[in-house]
Amino acid sequence: MRHLLSTDELSLEEAILVLDTAAQMAATQSREIKKLPTLRGRTVVNLFFEDSTRTRISFETAAKRLSADVINFSAKGSSVSKGESLKDTALTLHAMGADAVVVRHWASGAPHQLAHSGWLGSADNPVAVLNAGDGTHQHPTQALLDAFTIRRHLVGRVGGAGGDGVGRDLAGLKVAVVGDVLHSRVARSNVRLLRTLGAQVTLVAPPTLLPVGVETWPCTTSYDLDETLAHGQPDAVMMLRVQRERMSGGAGAFFPSPLEYSRRYGLDHRRLAMLPAHTVVMHPGPMNRGLEISAEAADSPRSVIVEQVANGVAVRMAALYLLLAGDSSAEGSSI
Ligand code: CP
Repeated sequence: MRHLLSTDELSLEEAILVLDTAAQMAATQSREIKKLPTLRGRTVVNLFFEDSTRTRISFETAAKRLSADVINFSAKGSSVSKGESLKDTALTLHAMGADAVVVRHWASGAPHQLAHSGWLGSADNPVAVLNAGDGTHQHPTQALLDAFTIRRHLVGRVGGAGGDGVGRDLAGLKVAVVGDVLHSRVARSNVRLLRTLGAQVTLVAPPTLLPVGVETWPCTTSYDLDETLAHGQPDAVMMLRVQRERMSGGAGAFFPSPLEYSRRYGLDHRRLAMLPAHTVVMHPGPMNRGLEISAEAADSPRSVIVEQVANGVAVRMAALYLLLAGDSSAEGSSI
């Protein structure tokens, strides 16, 4: 079976294949004829149980630019609101001839269940499942578009020419991931993928917003953003959204207060000035301007936040292409 469920499952070669393919897709997008015939006659279903702006529109755009038919399914307004199960929803999509299902779900593990349950086709003829974000677990295409963006800006300039020696990976680069790690599927996906690609990752957060067991992750951690920026000299600073909708008192409560959080962990003008000249500022969106990032930082020349969104289309075109039309001969491959 071939799916894109988690960055844990991507080997270095597979990750580089996606990034290289995305670079080719991006090149086609800068030409006059944007639409490729590659997935003509194939059907991609966007199955969204949680809200999304970037990911849903990006997958829709990517599928359409590959000439696939796209069905957008939102749990709101569907029979899910009448209590229909994930299984029956999946069986319905399969009966309607879906070739790929892009799923965002509030439950961690829902894409894995869809991929491995048999509800979406047999082992011989599976429907590809692409994880568009599940609970606090994974958001693999976000991490891939982040790596793609870092690669475009920094590889060959300040690092990344190590590893295989041809500058395709991110060896030697330092990335600080800052903020609400506890609730962040983006952080989890990025830590794994950036590590696979050879970058050094530092997570910066208050103790209450770091998950239990983070010490086993392939990265370092810090409670001190000023120290990380001044002495760590990161090449990329990735700010995370404070996910207030996932906080509900007790251990998950938002601590310190928003004002204190902003003062200690927000990226603002003063902290921007501490960064090396080449350092890029990233955010997966949507942003809480004035909380984890100031408007000045979000809109500064260092910010690649809008570019991340644009790169997402090329990365998702690459993922859809590799899963639906690419070489699927590699054993044990998730893509
Ligand atoms: N980065 C991201 O997943 O954004 P959306 O929630 O808007 O899709």
